[in-house]
Order: sequence, then C-alpha cells, then structure tokens
Amino acid sequence: MNYEAILVETKGKVGVITLNRPKALNALNDQLMDELGHALNEFDKNEQIGCIVLTGSEKAFAAGADITLMVNYTYMDAFNGNYVTRNWEHIRQIRKPVIAAVAGYALGGGCELAMMCDFIIAAENAKFGQPEIKLATIPGCGGTQRLPRAISKSKAMDMCLTARMMDAVEAERAGLVSRVVPLDKLMEETLAAATTIAGMSLPIVMMIKDSVNRAYETTLSEGVQYERRMFYSTFASEDQKEGMKSFLEKRLPNFRNL
Ligand code: HXC
Repeated sequence: MNYEAILVETKGKVGVITLNRPKALNALNDQLMDELGHALNEFDKNEQIGCIVLTGSEKAFAAGADITLMVNYTYMDAFNGNYVTRNWEHIRQIRKPVIAAVAGYALGGGCELAMMCDFIIAAENAKFGQPEIKLATIPGCGGTQRLPRAISKSKAMDMCLTARMMDAVEAERAGLVSRVVPLDKLMEETLAAATTIAGMSLPIVMMIKDSVNRAYETTLSEGVQYERRMFYSTFASEDQKEGMKSFLEKRLPNFRNL
C-alpha cells in the first residue's frame, strides 16, 4: 500500500507512524484511517518490531474526525458504510504495545484515537478535548466510555459537556497520560520508552498488554484469575528461564521471543 496520509518508518525495533495531513491538522478521514490500520497490521506482523509509536505534528496529534466528510452524512451513509467501526478500531486488535506521542491538539476522534493506544506520552503543549457537542454530535469512537474510565465521571462529563480542553499538566494529574515531557524531547523520550519495551521478550510483553486490558472488560476476581493463568503460562516460555537465569548470573538476558 502506498501511504499518503501517514508516514511510516522504523527506528531500531520500533515502528513509528506519523499522521500526516498537516493542512487539516491531521483530521482523520477514511483514507488516513485505512492507511493507519494497514500500517499497524504490518508492524504487528513484522518480527523485527517490538513496539509501535503513533504520533502527529507539533501542532496537532489530530484535530478530530474530518468534519468536511461528516457535514453531509446521513444516518444511512453512516449505517451502511459502517462508519468508525469499519476502519477506526484496527488498533484494538494490535497485540504489540502502541504508544501515542501527543503534541498539540488531540480533539474529538483525535483524543479517542490516543486513548485507544496503550499509553500516552504528552508534550507540554498537548491539549485534549471532546468538543463534538459544539458540532451538535457526540464522541463516536469510545470517548464517552474511555474518558470516564481514564479520568473519572466528573471530569469526563465536564469535558464532553462543556467542550473545554485539558492541558498536559491536568491530563497527567487526571491519569489520562503517563508522562509529560518538553515538546523538543517528545520523540526522544517516547522512542526511549518504546525501545525499552522492544528489548523485552515480545510474548511476555503481549501477555502483559492483554492482561492489563482485561481490567477494563471484566470483574476484579475474573481479571485476577486471568492474570494468574497468564502468569503460570510464562513458566512455559524459554525467555522466562533466560530472564531469571540472567539475573542470577548477573548478566544481561538474551531473549529469543520463545
Ligand atoms: C476537518 C479540520 C478539522 C477537522 C481542523 N481542520 N480541524 N478540518 N476536520 N476536525 C482544518 C480547518 O478547517 C482549517 O482548514 C485547518 O484545519 C486549520 O485549522 P484552523 O481552525 O484554521 O486552526 P486553528 O485556528 O489553529 O484552530 C485549531 C483547532 C480548530 C482549535 C484545532 O481547528 C478546531 O476547533 N478544529 C475542530 C476540532 C473538532 O471539533 N474536532 C471534533 C471533530 S468531530 P482551512 O482549509 O480553513 O485552512 C469528531 C467525532 C469523532 O472528531 C467521532 C468518531 C469518528
């Protein structure tokens, strides 16, 4: 596939996808979402890649779903075209960790896309918001569901109902982002985190991602049971032997993803 709306590169064992519609502040249209889904799948299949980073520009991660597309949409266009479901949710099927590196605006679908990543590292100029209400529509890709889970009902209601933006400091305090870094260090810090993850045993990384995500889908006792089974299954991996032996032998591990 030839990409036009995204840029794709690899940095060591990290796959980097950059949203690239600068004139529209990376507004998310069908072409971009198709390309993003394809690139994510390619990195997920690629044995050389251990972690994926999704980013935008310094001004905008993404200013939302493309309003020029939606303005004339009818109900039947959305229903028959399976809008959003068709190509926005590929990211949920990706087994390798996906880190969102967010600078500038992450609004509407842009905020929802960032929240579908496994964690968010924000630059100091990042601004998060769900301003759909100003367009007389509502978040359509999980915003009303993931935001309350991430930052509490009260803050989620405040953001979705008033359309106010949350800056990076507030987003970190509220738990939406894992860290805030200076804008000029955003990619350096994100790539360092991604490279650390990519140096671990990939199957174990994927088990952890799967197990943490389980916390959003089930009760505590079911989730703990799930985690316990995953934990036991790590003892079937060669990398667990290597990891523990290398600690005892005071050397670096050599993981083989087995
Ligand atoms: C289409 C968009 C866009 C969007 C910005 N642009 N956001 N085009 N869809 N979501 C375009 C502008 O029309 C403009 O194009 C160019 O990008 C630059 O934007 P400006 O508004 O001139 O920039 P600025 O004054 O700096 O303001 C930045 C901004 C503002 C605050 C981010 O652009 C803004 O409020 N954008 C809309 C944000 C929004 O409502 N998002 C939610 C969308 S609904 P021209 O051609 O004039 O230069 C949504 C639903 C998701 O996401 C549901 C699931 C799919």
